Amino acid sequence: MDADPDTIARAGALLRQGRLVAIPTETVYGLAADATNDEAVAAIFAAKDRPRFNPLIVHAPDAAAALALVRADARARRLADAFWPGPLTLVLPRAAGCPVSLLCSAGLDSLAVRVPAHPVATAVLRAAGTPVAAPSANRSGRVSPTTAAHVRAEFPDAAGGRLALVVDGGPCPVGVESTVLDLTESEARLLRPGGAPAEAIEAALGAPVLPAPPDMLDDGDGESARAGALKSPGLLASHYAPARPVRLVAWGEPPRPHGPREALLAFGPADAAGFVCVERIGAEGDLAQAAARLFAAMRALDRPGIDRIAAMLVPETGLGRAINDRLRRAAAPR
Ligand code: TXA
Ligand code: MG
Repeated sequence: MDADPDTIARAGALLRQGRLVAIPTETVYGLAADATNDEAVAAIFAAKDRPRFNPLIVHAPDAAAALALVRADARARRLADAFWPGPLTLVLPRAAGCPVSLLCSAGLDSLAVRVPAHPVATAVLRAAGTPVAAPSANRSGRVSPTTAAHVRAEFPDAAGGRLALVVDGGPCPVGVESTVLDLTESEARLLRPGGAPAEAIEAALGAPVLPAPPDMLDDGDGESARAGALKSPGLLASHYAPARPVRLVAWGEPPRPHGPREALLAFGPADAAGFVCVERIGAEGDLAQAAARLFAAMRALDRPGIDRIAAMLVPETGLGRAINDRLRRAAAPR
C-alpha cells in the first residue's frame, strides 16, 4: 500500500500486534517486527529462512531512542551525531534492562542499532512506538529488495500469511545496506561495508577502522556471522541470489562475453558488444547512482534467455567498497 498517513498508522498498529510489515528505508526494504516481542522476532527468522545465529538490526526513530538500548560510549555518540539518521549501524553492548528480545542478539552480548534516514521509516517507527527489528526483506541468501515490488516477489505467499503489509515508499535512494560497525572493543571494526563510506567513518572518529576479521562469514545477502557462532558447517558456503552464475570483470578491464547468452552488468560507458543484454549502473561513473541501481539491475538480469552474468567491479573507494562486496558475494562459489 502507498505510504499515506492511514497506511503508516496501520503499519504501526500491526507492528504492535506482533505482525510483520515490510517498510522502505534509505538503504533497502526491511522486514519489520516489534523487537521486544519474541514471537514476532521469531517470525522474521521463519519468514526469511534465516539462520538463528545471524543477529538482527534494531531500528529507532531517533538517536536517543536507539542509544537507550545499548551502552553507548563517546565514539558511539560521535558517530550517531555525524551519521544518524543514515546508513550506519552500530554494534554495542546491550544496555542493562534492554527490552529487546534476546533473539535479535542471536546469543551475542551485543545489539546492532540504527536510525534510518527515510521519512516513511521514521513515521512507521514513531507510529509503532517500540524498537523495531528489520533485516532486509528478502529470503536469506538472496538479493536485497529496493522496491515494494521486489518485496512482493520475494514473498509471493506473503511469507505464509506472516507478512501483513508492504508499505510502498518508492525505490530506496541509497540501494545498498547500511555499514555495520562493531564498537564492542577498543578499536572500531567494519563488519559490513555499506552506505556510510569507511573513509567518512574514520574521519568522524579520528581513528582508523579495522577490517572484518577472517572468521567473519557471510550468508550471501550482505549478512555475516562469526564462525564461532555457526552451528552447522554446511551453512558456510557463500551464496547470493541471482539464480544465474555471476563472474567478475576486474576494474579497468574491458568486458568480453564468455559464451552466447551472457549478460553484462556494466559500470560506466563500457562497450557491451557481444553480450546478450546489458544493465548499466552508474552510467557516468557515479558510485551513488551505481549503488542505488545495483540490486534492481541484478534482478533484471536474472531471467530466462540469459545463462550467466558478467559483473564489472567498480573502484574500491567510498560506496564502491559496498558495491564490490555485494558483487563478490554474488560471484562467490555456491
Ligand atoms: O540497511 C540495512 O541495514 C537494512 C535495513 C532494512 O535497515 N537491514 C539489513 O539487515 O541489512 P540484515 O539483517 O540483512 O543485515 C544485518 C547485518 C548482518 O550482517 C548481521 O550479521 C549484522 O548486521 N549484525 C546484526 N546484529 C549484529 C551483532 N549484534 N553483532 C554483529 N553483527 C550484527
Ligand atoms: Mg540482508
